[in-house]
Amino acid sequence: MARVEFEPTSFHRFLNCGPTVLAVTQDDGPPNIITLSWVTPVSHEPPLALISVSPHRYSHGLLEAGGEVTLNVPPWELLEEVAFCGRVSGREVDKFAETALRPVPSVLVTPPGIEQCLATLECRVEETVGVGDHTAFVLRVVRVVADEEAATERFGPGGGIPTTIHHLRGRYFAPLGGPVKEAGKAE
Ligand SMILES: Cc1cc2nc3c(=O)[nH]c(=O)nc-3n(C[C@H](O)[C@H](O)[C@H](O)COP(=O)(O)O)c2cc1C
Repeated sequence: MARVEFEPTSFHRFLNCGPTVLAVTQDDGPPNIITLSWVTPVSHEPPLALISVSPHRYSHGLLEAGGEVTLNVPPWELLEEVAFCGRVSGREVDKFAETALRPVPSVLVTPPGIEQCLATLECRVEETVGVGDHTAFVLRVVRVVADEEAATERFGPGGGIPTTIHHLRGRYFAPLGGPVKEAGKAE
């Protein structure tokens, strides 16, 4: 197989894989939505996730000030909203007002979730680390709620397979919706 070389700065296109999320942050004003693809689980117990956010984003200041965020997993049908929330800034645009995305009150944190998303993870910022040109926010996941119909083999037992949005690079995305296969011997 012939192999081609890439610039080191394009490395992320080979690692982007988890679902792209719509993260909602809030300080004193209205909530703001940002699209994030640099998101990963990093600990079972305590349950911790990591997001990487550029200091240029309006959401960065809201995260630092508010210390809380919801990570919302959108279905494939919300692809245009995902692209929109990743293109415009909350400094200029109220993204809830400009899209059909509906806020739904959270239970343990101030920023709302997004009603049309498959799952909402309510999180508190536990730690921040400067990493290159971004800030890594380590998040404690304090509550998880998922759409009942989407509670499937991926998010829970039974049901169908929800199709999530996966960012490849630039303006390119792919759906991931199965089939689900079991592998590896149980211990
Ligand atoms: C698919 C996609 C994924 C993105 N992932 C990230 C990310 O992980 N971290 C980040 O800082 N910005 C990311 N962005 C860019 C922000 O979403 C974008 O700059 C957004 O407009 C910032 O909004 P805000 O200024 O309201 O916070 C992504 C954009 C897109 C389209």
